Amino acid sequence: MVRVLFVCLGNICRSPMAEGLFRNLVESRGLSHRFHIDSAGTASYHIGELPDKRARQVCRENGIELTHRAQAVQENHFEQFDFMVAMDTQNLADLERMQKASTRTRLLMFNHWNNMPVTIPDPYYGSINGFYEVYDLVHRQNLELLEYLLKHDA
Ligand code: 4NP
Repeated sequence: MVRVLFVCLGNICRSPMAEGLFRNLVESRGLSHRFHIDSAGTASYHIGELPDKRARQVCRENGIELTHRAQAVQENHFEQFDFMVAMDTQNLADLERMQKASTRTRLLMFNHWNNMPVTIPDPYYGSINGFYEVYDLVHRQNLELLEYLLKHDA
């Protein structure tokens, strides 16, 4: 079982999209039983909210319904997840600062394992086009993430 938490700032745009897309991917491969998937934000502004309307629209157009409720990253998440996938370098730096040395969660960005971290740009203050861009980037990166995580399934 691989436990993976997708992390962005607000947990209403990028990380719930990444979570929904990754869940859809593992379901389509018949691998749901091998994964526990969730998402969270480093900030608390939007706790309890559904994902941004634009994120839901772009995902719905692709047959994926986002029903996640925003939560903030908590200390106990570092006990509960094997991997955290940060959407950008700021998210990663925030997670590095929060993580206690005694915990073993591996902090990644997409494609980090190839020494080529891929940043998912924050779409919140832009137009819906940014959300299509996030969708395409995450869709592509999730394929490689799945291969990586299957290789590192403890
Ligand atoms: P996210 O986008 O980190 O992809 O969920 C954001 C959502 C909300 C805010 C910033 C980014 N905000 O400042 O409220």
